Amino acid sequence: MALKEEIAKRRTFGIISHPDAGKTTLTEKLLLFGGAIQTAGAVKSNKIKMHARSDWMEIEKQRGISVATSVMGFNYNGKKINLLDTPGHQDFAEDTYRTLTAVDSVIMVIDCVKGVEIQTEKLMEVCRMRKTPVICFINKLDREGRDPYDLLDEIEEKLDIKVRPLSWPISMGKTFKGVYSLYNKTLHLFQPSKTKIEQDGEVIEDIKDPIIDKEVGESYANQLREDVELIEGVYPEFDVNEYLAGNVAPVFFGSAVNNFGVKELLDCFIELAPAPKPRETEERVIAPDENKFSGFIFKIHANMDPNHRNRIAFIRVCAGKFERGANYYHVRSDKKIRFSNVTAFMAQEKELVDEAWPGDIVGLYDTGNLKIGDTISEGEKGIYKGIPSFSPEIFKEVVNKDAMKTKQLEKGLNQLMEEGVAQLFSYELGARKVVGTVGALQFEVIQHRLKHEYGASCDFMSMNLYKACWISSKDKKKLNEFVDSKYRHIAKDKDGKLVFMAESRAWLTMVQDNFPDIEFHFTSEF
Ligand code: G4P
Repeated sequence: MALKEEIAKRRTFGIISHPDAGKTTLTEKLLLFGGAIQTAGAVKSNKIKMHARSDWMEIEKQRGISVATSVMGFNYNGKKINLLDTPGHQDFAEDTYRTLTAVDSVIMVIDCVKGVEIQTEKLMEVCRMRKTPVICFINKLDREGRDPYDLLDEIEEKLDIKVRPLSWPISMGKTFKGVYSLYNKTLHLFQPSKTKIEQDGEVIEDIKDPIIDKEVGESYANQLREDVELIEGVYPEFDVNEYLAGNVAPVFFGSAVNNFGVKELLDCFIELAPAPKPRETEERVIAPDENKFSGFIFKIHANMDPNHRNRIAFIRVCAGKFERGANYYHVRSDKKIRFSNVTAFMAQEKELVDEAWPGDIVGLYDTGNLKIGDTISEGEKGIYKGIPSFSPEIFKEVVNKDAMKTKQLEKGLNQLMEEGVAQLFSYELGARKVVGTVGALQFEVIQHRLKHEYGASCDFMSMNLYKACWISSKDKKKLNEFVDSKYRHIAKDKDGKLVFMAESRAWLTMVQDNFPDIEFHFTSEF
C-alpha cells in the first residue's frame, strides 16, 4: 500500500526552454514555493555565458553547479516533486535529451517577446517522440510581447502540438494587469515582486461580475470578456487525457521574475501532471507498483575530484522500492551489484538516503561499472527502452598526439563516452576513431578533460560527415553484403552496433535507394 501512495505523490518533470527564456528564474520560483529555498537568487544558472565559451575554469565550475542542481526535490501540497535540470547550452543538447527520458512530464518556457525559438523546437521533437505531456508557460508578460493569439498559433505550428490556454493575460508590458485563470475561474492581479510569493487570486464566479471592471478598468475587463468568449468558442474544452497523451499542451501566462503566474502554474501542474507510469523494457512493460525494484541510469557525472576517480550515476527509479545496501542485479554485465553510498537531492542539498520510490532520482557512487542506459533491478532481466543515442551533428577524427600515452587516451575516451560527453564511432578499417557531438564545445571539453584527468593529449581532425545511421535488416545476408560493399563507411558505436557513416544527404538517399533491404535509423533504438 505504501508503494501505491508514494507513487501517487510523485511528480517528476523537467523544464525546457531556449536559453534566456527564463528556465532558471522559473526553477527558482518553484523552489521558493516548495520551501526548498528561502530567498531569490539562490539558484545558480547552469548556463555557460557567451563570453565564457572557451573558459575552462568556467566549464569546470559549471560541472560543479550542475551536479548540485541536477535534481531538485521538494514537497508541495502533499506532493513530492522532482525537478530535473537540463543544460541550457545547446551544445549540451544530448544531455538534455537523455534527461528527458527520465521525466514523466515537461514544462516548456517560452519568451513572449521572442516566441518559439529553435532550441525549443528541437527539444519538443524529443518530447513528441516519447509522447511526454507538456505544459507551456509563456513568460515575461511584463514586457511588450507578441499578441497571445499569435503566440498560440506559432506554438501549434512550429511545435506541432495542439494548445489549450488555461489562463489568459489582461494586456501586457507596461499596462499588464494580470491573468484570468480559465481553469479555476480566478482573477490574479499583477503586482511585481521579485522576492515575495504571490497570493491566491480572487474567485470570480461569473466573467460578467463588475468586480473585474473595478479591478482592471472597464475597457480591459470588456476585452477580457471578449477574449474568454473567443477562447471558449475556438478551443475545444480542455481534456486532461489529451494532455496526458501528449496531444494537447495547456498554456499558462505569467512573469517568472516577478513571481507572477507561477503559483497557478504549480497548482495546476500538481493536479494535472502524471505520476510515474509503466515503462517498457526489452522484454515487457513494468508497472511502477510492481514490488520488485528496477530503474535505469540516464546520467553520469565523473571525476569531480581528479584525485578520486569516483563518479555519480543518476538512476531513475521506475518500479518498486529502492533500498540502500540491497543486493541488486546489473543487467548488462549479468552481475550482482550493491550500493552503500547513495544520495538523494532535496532542496539542493545532497543527503544520504536509505530508500527511494518510483519517480525518484538517486545518485549512486560508482567506480566505473555503470554506463548510461544500464538497467539495475531486483532480478528483472530486460533492459529499459527509450534511452537512445541520436545521430550527432559534428564529427571529428581523434589523432593521438602522444604515442606514450595511448592507453591513457583510450581509457579516457571510453570513460568520457560512458559519461555521455560525446559518442565514439570506431572504424574497423585502420582502427580509426571518430568522435561525434551535437555542439562544437564538447571537443574542447574532451581535450581539456583528457589532459587534466587522464594525462593524454589528442587533436581532432574535421571530417566531412552528414549523419551516423544505425543500420539493420530483416535479411542478415543482405546486411552482411551491405557492410562488405560499404566497409570504408562502416563503424561501430559504443555498444558494438553497426553504423553507416553518411557523407552527405544526397549520397545517403542514393544508398538508401540502392539498398532497399537495409533500414537506416537516426537513433540507436529502433
Ligand atoms: P534561462 O535559464 O532560460 O537561460 O533564463 P534565465 O532564467 O536566466 O532568464 C534570462 C533573463 O530573463 C534574466 O535576465 C532574467 O532575469 C530575465 N527574466 C526571467 N523572467 C522574466 C520575466 O518574467 N520578465 C522579464 N522582464 N525578465 C525575465 P538577465 O538580465 O539575463 O539576468 P539577471 O541579471 O536578471 O539575472
